[in-house]
Amino acid sequence: MCGIVGYIGDKDACKVIVEGLKRLEYRGYDSAGIALLREKHIDVTKTPGKVSKLEKMVSGLRPAKIGIGHTRWATHGEPNTVNAHPHTDCSGNIAIIHNGIIENHSSLKTKLTSLGHTFKSQTDTEVLAHLIEEFYSRTENLEMAVRLALKDVNGTFGIVVLSAAEPDVLVAARRGSPLLIGLGDSENLIASDASALIRHTRDVIYMHDNEIAVITRTNVSLKNLDDEAVEREAEHLTFDLEQIEKGGFAHFMLKEINEQPETVLNAFRGRLIDDEGVSKMGGLREVEEKIVNARRFVILACGTSWHAALVGKYILEQYAQIPVEVDYASEFRYRNPVLVEGDVVWAISQSGETLDTLAALREARQRGVPVYGIVNVVGSTIARETDAGVYIHAGPEIGVASTKAFTSQLAVLNLINLLVARRRKTITAEQGKEIVEEMHRLPGKIRQILDNTAQIEAIAEEFKESRNFLYLGRGVNFPVALEGALKLKEISYIHAEGYPAAEMKHGPIALIDENMPAVFIALRDSTYDKILSNIQEVRARKGNVIVIANEADGRLKELAEHIIEIPETLEILSPILSVIPLQLLSYYMAVKRGCNVDQPRNLAKSVTVE
Ligand code: M6R
Repeated sequence: MCGIVGYIGDKDACKVIVEGLKRLEYRGYDSAGIALLREKHIDVTKTPGKVSKLEKMVSGLRPAKIGIGHTRWATHGEPNTVNAHPHTDCSGNIAIIHNGIIENHSSLKTKLTSLGHTFKSQTDTEVLAHLIEEFYSRTENLEMAVRLALKDVNGTFGIVVLSAAEPDVLVAARRGSPLLIGLGDSENLIASDASALIRHTRDVIYMHDNEIAVITRTNVSLKNLDDEAVEREAEHLTFDLEQIEKGGFAHFMLKEINEQPETVLNAFRGRLIDDEGVSKMGGLREVEEKIVNARRFVILACGTSWHAALVGKYILEQYAQIPVEVDYASEFRYRNPVLVEGDVVWAISQSGETLDTLAALREARQRGVPVYGIVNVVGSTIARETDAGVYIHAGPEIGVASTKAFTSQLAVLNLINLLVARRRKTITAEQGKEIVEEMHRLPGKIRQILDNTAQIEAIAEEFKESRNFLYLGRGVNFPVALEGALKLKEISYIHAEGYPAAEMKHGPIALIDENMPAVFIALRDSTYDKILSNIQEVRARKGNVIVIANEADGRLKELAEHIIEIPETLEILSPILSVIPLQLLSYYMAVKRGCNVDQPRNLAKSVTVE
């Protein structure tokens, strides 16, 4: 997720763009840049860090009437000056800003290099600048060059392009990444969301997928990528700025919960080989042999990332048949951990900055074993200090309670499992294909859960005054019970414990009475019959039972009053679905209790202290 702004009109483009970028910083803030066009010449200024740094660098520049700017959330290439947008072609006469991922960037880069293009950055975006340059040299028309270039591209994009040879137009196109055009009086703007435009105009045209727009000072023409004109009425925006930044959601946490169909899709994007039933991850390509031949995995993490690691243990031991140890990073670093040849250590972290995880991975590296990362923030310290790794591509997570990062971590752990299991031949190609097919179906199934939240809200209303909660699950859904309990604790300040359901009898059952709600994850999987017995044990002691279950489960209906249904999927993928009602339950409980959902007391988004 990145922020994009383009301007053409009589105002100082630089000021308008920088001001717009500041409003978009919640979409990413690891580097920023601007390209301004004056007298048929493009000047680019870029910097790592926040927009305020860029602002200082451009203050005092001569005014320009047209320009584009970008605030970056890195996906390919670390956040430094060269990788910051805008990117330019070989001549510096074409500049582009981009939000999205170009999946086939490596093959395009090889082809363009053989045609004589020289690349400066490690980004996927730069290939677009050179590809457009290639077509521009044949067509001498920016709109046509962009359209032809995009025909060669797989992946997602929201782009705005500037050409020194056509100083009166901005060309924009979208597929999968938002873009809207702001219509002004002798000026027009374009941005990835409305917050960047609203100071200048409230009349906007939302671009749809596979559309291209040619924007001048006084005109906007919209077409599809097949060059057919598109007619669309402008809309008038009435909502306020804060609402826009949160995409209309009341809190970032709710926005991020709702982004999960897309973020899980992004984690899988370009990494599934459907007809072979296997996965591929660019960041692991060079170390694949070490991973596949490892004798043991040791996974280090904290908090929610540690819960994801535990799910990974269940999956990898079951399918890839590789022994997996999961350790709290904070414990690992102060023990005398035994690591031997053949061990592969993984560090999982959303932020990539958690001090305990960082210290633990340094400890592991000192002992001479390879350490790989599963990280969200590109270019973060953990991403840099691991020997290789996979980005989860969840986009910036702003709510302190981690939600979309967890499901994306699970998606990536499943990709690793698929790769290792297929390569170690512990599953067949047919089984691999079945997993891949189900991975493709997951975003739709997540959407289905998100479309039915009224019941979860009603349950939150009923139980909002409870002082304690138990969360119980078995097998691959035991760590989900831990995660559900953590979510409730951290944002609604209700005491909650997660347990493997069978452990209940060894102590926690003493707590059960009519005041103790117990949340069960009871899916039709290998633990189903056992967990049904556990539910009966709680019911027999007058406990209130809330169950996350598969659709149309007749047996459960006789046992529980509150059943939240989720679609069926493969057992190894089921935590990606079962956690979502738990995220929503904690969210609604916190809202109903008047808690600060996005910034709960005593917590920080990443824990960078001892
Ligand atoms: O950025 P990391 O994944 O390394 O963070 C680890 C934990 O601090 C984090 O998951 C924390 O537990 C969250 N607030 C949970 O919602």
